[in-house]
Amino acid sequence: MNRVIKNGLRAGILIAACFAMAVPTLAWDKGNLADYHQRRERIVHSTGDGVVVLFGFSEDEIAVSTVEFRQNEMFYYLTGWNQPDAILLLVPKPPHANGQPSEFDKEILFIPPHDYRAEKWRGPKLGPDDPEAKSQTGFPTVLNKALFPSVFHEALKSFPVVYTELTPQPESGEDHFIETSVAQLKTLAPMASFRDIRAQLTRMRAVKSPGEIALMRKAVDASVEGHLAAMKTLKPGMMEYEVAARMEYEYRRRGCEWPSYPPIVGSGFYSTVLHYDEDSRPIQDGDVVVMDVAGSYSGYASDITRTLPANGHFTERQREIYTLVYGAQEAALGAAKPGVTVGELNKIARDYINSHGKDQHGQTLGQYFIHGLSHSVGLNVHDPMEYSQPVEPGMVITLEPGIYIPEEKLGVRIEDMILITPEGAELLSKRLPRQADDVERAMASR
Ligand code: GLY
Ligand code: MN
Ligand code: MN
Repeated sequence: MNRVIKNGLRAGILIAACFAMAVPTLAWDKGNLADYHQRRERIVHSTGDGVVVLFGFSEDEIAVSTVEFRQNEMFYYLTGWNQPDAILLLVPKPPHANGQPSEFDKEILFIPPHDYRAEKWRGPKLGPDDPEAKSQTGFPTVLNKALFPSVFHEALKSFPVVYTELTPQPESGEDHFIETSVAQLKTLAPMASFRDIRAQLTRMRAVKSPGEIALMRKAVDASVEGHLAAMKTLKPGMMEYEVAARMEYEYRRRGCEWPSYPPIVGSGFYSTVLHYDEDSRPIQDGDVVVMDVAGSYSGYASDITRTLPANGHFTERQREIYTLVYGAQEAALGAAKPGVTVGELNKIARDYINSHGKDQHGQTLGQYFIHGLSHSVGLNVHDPMEYSQPVEPGMVITLEPGIYIPEEKLGVRIEDMILITPEGAELLSKRLPRQADDVERAMASR
């Protein structure tokens, strides 16, 4: 049903039901709302000379009948609020003469008032005047969004500086959103100076809190079940999309709300295509199948890849390449600890690949490792991180070496997520078979 027809039906058929109703608890696990408050505190401590404004995403620009709403990640990180059309405003107290960190003067979440007709279609929402507004959001002040311009103006009298998102996150497609948000603020505050808050938030997001790690473990555990199910069911003749569907079924039934990225199930030649997400080929005897498939739990992504022999047994050459990729991952895993950089880990894996094995022309294999080894994972599968900085305890990154030789229709990627710990690193998906023998053993139980 398209939006115009739907709006017509809304107007023509529905009678507004304007009675108060308790808002059901939202399905996502937000953990402790005090954690989000502490993040806002940290931001105000580091930006004490200006107000902070972040916009949540709006529903206006998406086809609500076909696409699920997803919140602006930076906004969600500071608010835990995943309903559309909200605004965050943080106002510090005037700076202390003794150089103490700034405290809040105002900590406000602006949300739209009830639209009872829309709620008939999309379910009950929280309104700013509902008695549970504070307890459900964890904000001391929740106001009608219509009040934002006047409250913002008032705040600017003490602080003519505005911290907001000025640059889109790479790969995010947020360019238009950022452009219109900044234009809106500049119209409201033509005399203010604007500073980008992205670097501070990127630093904060890179180190996960215990609550975030708990959610990521759930995403990983559910996705591991998807991979185990694939190991038990894969056989020649299946369509790639059948494998993807089976895996998705397993992680979704364990509470994941959506795939962290479009599932990649690539067999034969398509095992060498990095982000092949058509998943439309029949899997053949003798193929390897790269399965880069994982789900998100309460907003937190996971990212796991296994490469399986379609018939349950690697050929000699497949096993050779697989074992090499495994060796590269092990080498990087052994070196992962606080203080190392992602670039150094990448080099360790690349050197390993280059010093083991050859292609059909006697050349070294590093040329077939055509992507980076690691990226941060969090609210986004490619979470923001300052990659030149050494890793720290609490960071979650992938280790995903791969060798892709189109000429041999042979691609192998092994991808796991690690949590950097004070001593080294924890492999979050350790119960999922990784070595060639263990993979074959898991498949033998089909
Ligand atoms: N699944 C996307 C990636 O591995 O980065
Ligand atoms: Mn990845
Ligand atoms: Mn992946």
